[in-house]
Amino acid sequence: MRASLTVLCCLITTACAARQDNPEAVRRGKELAITWCSECHRVAPDQPTGARPGHIMPPPMNAPSFMSVAARPDVDRRHLKAFASDLHLPMPIYHLTSEQQDDLITYILSLKER
Ligand code: HEC
Repeated sequence: MRASLTVLCCLITTACAARQDNPEAVRRGKELAITWCSECHRVAPDQPTGARPGHIMPPPMNAPSFMSVAARPDVDRRHLKAFASDLHLPMPIYHLTSEQQDDLITYILSLKER
């Protein structure tokens, strides 16, 4: 009994760790970020401006870059998950499925290491 519990714990830990740094999730999250978030946010270090070419932002809109969000010490998966589940106008994040939100969060957190 004890041995199988240990095995179960290991399996759960491994599954969670894999989910955190899964390169596939990071890749999907980046794609989602470019599609849905780059209109207002600078979502990647290789994105030169905060706005998609051709998009006209209303002047007072000042969305933080995802790198600066990731660099904040208070930002972790729990913070981003809570933020994502809030209704946060004018952001479209609440249109995404929870898998898509998880991928986006994994992507944003992956920017922490840079
Ligand atoms: C229409 C413009 C707009 C779009 C599109 C947008 N955002 Fe935002 N976002 C903002 C603004 C403005 C802020 C800063 C003001 C605020 O926090 O209310 C912000 C803040 C944030 C923050 C910081 C939260 C914090 O704790 O301070 C995160 C994370 C974020 N956005 C994620 C996203 C994601 C993920 C997407 C794509 C699904 C997205 N945003 C799309 C305008 C936008």
